[in-house]
Amino acid sequence: MTDNSRLAVVVGSVREGRFGPVVAAWVAEQARAFGGFDVDVIDLADFDIPLALPAGSPKEPGYPRPEGMTDLTARLEAADAFVLVTPEYNHSYPASLKAAIDWHFTQWAAKPVAFASYGGAAGGRHAVLHLENVLTELHAVTVRDGLAFVNYPLAFDLDEGRPADASATTYAKTLLAQLAWWTPVLRTARERAPYPG
Ligand SMILES: Cc1cc2nc3c(=O)[nH]c(=O)nc-3n(C[C@H](O)[C@H](O)[C@H](O)COP(=O)(O)O)c2cc1C
Repeated sequence: MTDNSRLAVVVGSVREGRFGPVVAAWVAEQARAFGGFDVDVIDLADFDIPLALPAGSPKEPGYPRPEGMTDLTARLEAADAFVLVTPEYNHSYPASLKAAIDWHFTQWAAKPVAFASYGGAAGGRHAVLHLENVLTELHAVTVRDGLAFVNYPLAFDLDEGRPADASATTYAKTLLAQLAWWTPVLRTARERAPYPG
């Protein structure tokens, strides 16, 4: 383990034949090239994330999560920052991502979150607007500049697994610079005192 910040890149879609892992792999590559982050790609398809929540609050210690979620919870907990990779489903983000968010609370609090979205004409922007609202409720700090891939089959060079427009790399650097600014600030603050939320 290094002194690097731990960045979790979360693949939000679990659909058969999904495109999400392609976007997440490229985002992770950009983050590694940017430097200063230990990058963990978290694929929600790898975990048991039921829709039915238990009684009680995910804020409480001992909240009863399924065994198949243990590793997910530990990796969200360990993360200092997030990039949520989301498609747009019916002008919002997928239920898989909402379920993963709702099973947790303190794992998001006082941490910076950025977004990489993809979809049709809006590039997943509707999904991101909803996510910004939800993450604010969880005391996360959303960064303004994100990545949005409009008409993603055209926006991506599918053979190469990277955006067709080379300027996406510049946008990724802006997103990562904002995350890199917030991450140590919030990590130090969390270590100094528990977040009052
Ligand atoms: C249930 C469903 C609803 C969708 N709704 C939208 C939408 O509202 N806007 C949009 O731009 N694309 C929409 N799409 C297209 C998705 O953005 C596109 O299929 C994308 O590849 C989905 O991400 P995934 O492959 O990682 O699951 C929808 C796709 C699905 C499966």
